[in-house]
Amino acid sequence: MKIIAIIGARPQFIKHFSFEKACENKVDLKTIHTGQHYDENMSAVFFEQLGMKKPDYMLNIGSGNHGFQTAKMMLEIEDVLQNEKPDGIVVYGDTNSTLAGALVASKIHVPIFHIEAGLRSFNKSMPEEINRVLTDHVSACLFTPSEVATSNLKNEGIVKNVYEVGDIMKDLTNYAQNSGLLKAVDIDSFYYVTIHRPYNTDEPKRLEYVLSSLNNLKKRVVMAIHPRTRNLMDRYNLNTLDYQNINFIPPQSYVDNLSYLEKSSGLITDSGGMQKEAYWLKKNCVTIRTETEWVETLEDGNNVLVFEELENLESHIAKERNTWNANLYGDGNASRIIVTKIIEYLTN
Ligand code: UD1
Repeated sequence: MKIIAIIGARPQFIKHFSFEKACENKVDLKTIHTGQHYDENMSAVFFEQLGMKKPDYMLNIGSGNHGFQTAKMMLEIEDVLQNEKPDGIVVYGDTNSTLAGALVASKIHVPIFHIEAGLRSFNKSMPEEINRVLTDHVSACLFTPSEVATSNLKNEGIVKNVYEVGDIMKDLTNYAQNSGLLKAVDIDSFYYVTIHRPYNTDEPKRLEYVLSSLNNLKKRVVMAIHPRTRNLMDRYNLNTLDYQNINFIPPQSYVDNLSYLEKSSGLITDSGGMQKEAYWLKKNCVTIRTETEWVETLEDGNNVLVFEELENLESHIAKERNTWNANLYGDGNASRIIVTKIIEYLTN
């Protein structure tokens, strides 16, 4: 049984780690890396640090406008799928690499297994929302992380081969915590920050407002800076020296990122995945967005959405919180269940 997984952006390397492990001795797994993320810190470091296999195909597509980037990926992915003739492909989440793989496979009738299906922000101005809706509608099997995600699919008429398996990212968070992978971090009392979404970075006034609000927090800020944000700060002449309360650090590897989060007094982010990681590590999270796909994290106030009035960041992030659901998004066994279901699907 041959499966090809398509990955390309940082969060997909993290999800792929657990899937690759769960496939061992069960499935002939090959991997295509589109090259959507290509900086050492955004790509290679994940494979090296987590001991993942080198991708079988490196497409080196790189950055570009959405149409250009997605189309280039599709051309190359189609060639690989036609030569390899896999029994199915696996795609993760909602990036342009996900959509490119799904579109190609659907047209040549290769079954698509979508991991992290059913999430919705109901905000169609996000490229990710388009990517996930389209991918869900052409998938053969859909693996959802939660009841809400499953019912989102139902509302769009997708009920066949939908499996609520929990979140595959939790598999790795549990593993990292239990196997002592996390490192000591030599800073005390700080908030950890990651910001990269276009609506926070692409307008100079907005980016300046985000940075100055972080700079005004009472605790020190450690900000791991995504290349998108770094490039835009350069373009808009926003100088790191003007934000003395922020300690800017390069993008971090998986283990280092989780170690910073573990040591922090809370997370301020616009990332999807890190909202959950903060929850699992019992850290307050403030998400600088108007909506989130991970709505369950909002229920007991451990994650709060703030977008317009960033002066309120401090009051949310500093609040004491005590209620955490240990089984939010499953028990860390998603990858094993997914592999079992894929094998069942392909053998029936
Ligand atoms: C992408 C995903 C987003 C995900 C994020 C995780 C889409 C539409 N978006 O956003 O859902 O949360 O990955 O990080 O797929 N760049 C570099 N080096 C790199 C990668 C990017 O310099 O290795 C810069 C380039 O200027 C590029 C910009 O970052 O144009 C944005 O990269 P891109 O992959 O288009 O989107 P992300 O913002 O990373």
